[in-house]
Amino acid sequence: MIRHQQLASGVMGLTLLAIGSAGHAASAEVAQGKQLFEQNCQVCHQADAIGKPGSAPSLTNKELLSIGSDRFFMSTIRDGRTGTGMPPFAHLGKKKIKAIVAFLRAHEKQPGRAKEVDAQPASFGDARKGELWFKEICVSCHGDRGEGYGAGVAGTAIGKPGFLNKVSDGFIRETIKYGRSNTRMRGFSGADGLANLRDSEIEDIIAYLRTLGDQHNRAR
Ligand code: HEC
Ligand code: HEC
Repeated sequence: MIRHQQLASGVMGLTLLAIGSAGHAASAEVAQGKQLFEQNCQVCHQADAIGKPGSAPSLTNKELLSIGSDRFFMSTIRDGRTGTGMPPFAHLGKKKIKAIVAFLRAHEKQPGRAKEVDAQPASFGDARKGELWFKEICVSCHGDRGEGYGAGVAGTAIGKPGFLNKVSDGFIRETIKYGRSNTRMRGFSGADGLANLRDSEIEDIIAYLRTLGDQHNRAR
């Protein structure tokens, strides 16, 4: 019996030790990520990655952190976004990029929903109708064909493959509905939205955005 207890407390101790050192490793990774962020990213994305309107988006708003998967963050950082101000950072290697993502995740305020969001069904919208909405509402902040900052607008290049090839329809859908806190991207769903778009209208816009990505792909 005594031996049993000793064994049990020994196992407990080991478990606690393991949890303790895992926590330590995690905080060391966040600290390394913070340093790497300051060296490589802060010049554009600003301290705490709050972003700068018209030049670099916020990376720490709660909506993006909640719907963006690790895969989205890792591959966007690795590849950058061709034809925008976001350069590729493949030279940093996977481990350092992972540390930067851990630093961004340390700002998380909402439970992660990326898995559920990426598993949402693809858009069933009508691209021709979506084009009309896009011209009426989105162009003023994202450019005629979603070119982004290059067109002298406030929003990112949502019509380019660097964005479209890395995100699910669920990611786009959630962003249009709920927007991004503390940025000029307000949600388009509900009475306090920039415009109260119906779900079907949001589907039409996603369908239109997908056609922009195709045209860019063909042009390459
Ligand atoms: C020279 C300026 C610059 C630097 C340096 C830079 N970025 Fe960016 N980043 C941008 C711009 C501009 C965009 C938006 C591109 C677009 O229009 O789609 C962006 C977009 C992003 C996105 C997508 C965000 C979203 O809302 O979908 C992520 C993630 C990101 N950057 C991470 C990083 C990380 C991490 C670093 C450092 C390793 C970094 N960036 C360095 C300019 C920069
Ligand atoms: C008042 C300006 C404004 C309007 C209007 C606007 N957006 Fe945005 N949008 C932004 C800004 C700014 C961002 C980037 C947020 C940031 O700076 O961190 C953004 C980001 C996005 C993103 C995420 C892009 C990324 O790089 O991750 C999507 C998708 C998007 N907007 C879609 C739309 C659609 C579709 C419409 C029209 C229904 C629209 N937006 C209208 C300002 C706007």
